[in-house]
Amino acid sequence: MQTQVGIIGAGPAGLLLSHLLHLQGIESIIFESRSREEIEGTIRAGVLEQGTVDLLNATGVGERMMKEGHVHHGIELQFNGKRHRINMGELTGGKNITVYAQHEVIKDLVAARLQAGAKIYFNVSDVSLHDLDSTTPKIHFRQEKEGELLELTCDFIAGCDGFHGPSRKAIPKEVRIEKQKIYPFGWLGILAKTPPVNPELIYTNHERGFALLSTRSPEVQRHYIQVDPSDHIDNWSDDRIWTELHARVDMADGWTVKDGPIIQKNIVSMRSFVCETMQYGRLFLAGDAAHIVPPTGAKGLNLAAADIQVLARGISEYYQSSNENLLERYSEICLRRVWKAQRFSYWMTTMLHRNFEHSPFDAGIQLAELDYVTSSNAASKSLAENYVGLPLEW
Ligand code: FAD
Ligand code: DHB
Repeated sequence: MQTQVGIIGAGPAGLLLSHLLHLQGIESIIFESRSREEIEGTIRAGVLEQGTVDLLNATGVGERMMKEGHVHHGIELQFNGKRHRINMGELTGGKNITVYAQHEVIKDLVAARLQAGAKIYFNVSDVSLHDLDSTTPKIHFRQEKEGELLELTCDFIAGCDGFHGPSRKAIPKEVRIEKQKIYPFGWLGILAKTPPVNPELIYTNHERGFALLSTRSPEVQRHYIQVDPSDHIDNWSDDRIWTELHARVDMADGWTVKDGPIIQKNIVSMRSFVCETMQYGRLFLAGDAAHIVPPTGAKGLNLAAADIQVLARGISEYYQSSNENLLERYSEICLRRVWKAQRFSYWMTTMLHRNFEHSPFDAGIQLAELDYVTSSNAASKSLAENYVGLPLEW
C-alpha cells in the first residue's frame, strides 16, 4: 500500500491535515485506533480561537460551526464573590472566540473527508513506524485484531496520535527532549440538560476550588470543577456535583447556576508537556502528540490547528517546488507558539485553581494577580490577546 502522506490519528490534527493536503491535491491515508462513533462522541474542547474558526471557514468546513457555534466577545473572571468581565473584543481590536464542541468539528471534518473519497482506516491496531530517516518511511498496522500485519509506504508520516500514541516514541531518545509539569489538579467535566446560565464563560476561583461554567447549546451546558486528579468519578453523584458547583459559583445577590440531569461526566488530570523536537527525518508530530497544555487556557485544539497549518504548507511547498525550507523549520516555527501557549495555560491554571498546599501568602499573591488582571487595562489586554489566540509567526 502506498500514499504521499501517512497520518496516524483521526483527531482534530490528523483530520485537518488530511483535509488541507487534499485541497492542495496531495493524497493521504489516516489510521485511527478507535471507531468513527467513538471519535465523533468523545466530549472534549469547546473554545475555538478566531484563527481556528477562520481556517475552518476558509477551507470549506465551517458551515455548521457558523450556524450552531456561539461567538463570545468576552469572558468573566469570578473571585472574592464578584464577577469581572474581560472584554476581549474591545481589548483585541474586534477579535473573539467561538464555542463549538470539538466532536462537532470532528464530525464536520470526517464528513468532508469521506465525501471527497478519502481513506480513513478506523479500528486499526498494532500501529508502528519504520524507516523514518529514509525517503520512504513506513507504517505497519492491522486492520482487524488478529489480521495480518499490513504496510504503508509513504513520503511523509504525520504523527497526530495524541499524547499516548506511538509516533512520539518512534523518535530516538537521544534526539527527543521532553519537558513536563504535572499539576495537583483534575477537572471533573459534565454535560447537563439545562438552559444557559450566562451568555459568556465564567472562570471562578473559589476557596473550595476552581469552577468553569461553559455552554454548548440552548438545551445542553458544559461545566467543570476542580477535583483531586486521583479522585474517581464514581465518588461524584449528580447531587454532589451540583452542590459543589452551587457552593463555588452562586452569588450573594441570588444569582445561581441552574441544575438538571447530567448526561455525561468524567475526570481528567492536568499536565504541561513539550517534546522538543517535533520532527525526525520524515516524521512530523502535531497536536497533543507533541505537546499538552492544561485546559484552563482552552489552547490544545487550537495549537493542533496551528501546527497543521505549518505542516500542510511545508508539505505542499515540497511537492510544488521541492523546497524543503519550511519543513526543515517546522519544529522551530511551531515550538515558538507552543511555548507561548504553555506560558499562558500555566498562568491561567495557577491563577484560577486553589492549591491546597499553598501558604496564606501564596493565596494572597494569587488574589492580587486576579485583582491586577481585572483592574489594569494592560494586564486585561495581555489576557485577552492570548485567549483569542496569538498570531502564527512563520
Ligand atoms: P487527539 O484529539 O488526542 O487525537 C488523537 C487521535 O489519535 C485519537 O483519535 C486517538 O484515538 C488516535 N490514536 C491514538 N493512538 C493511536 C494509535 N496507536 N493508532 C492509531 N490512532 C491512534 N483545546 C482547546 O483548544 N480548547 C478547549 O476549550 C479545550 N478544552 C479541553 C477540555 C478538556 C476537558 C480536555 C480534556 C481537553 C481540552 N482541550 C481544549 C484540548 C483538546 O481536546 C486537545 O488538545 C485536542 O484533542 C488535540 O487534538 P489531537 O488531534 O492532537 O489529538
Ligand atoms: C471549555 C473548555 C476549556 O478548556 C475552557 O478553558 C473553556 C471552555 C469547554 O469545554 O467549553
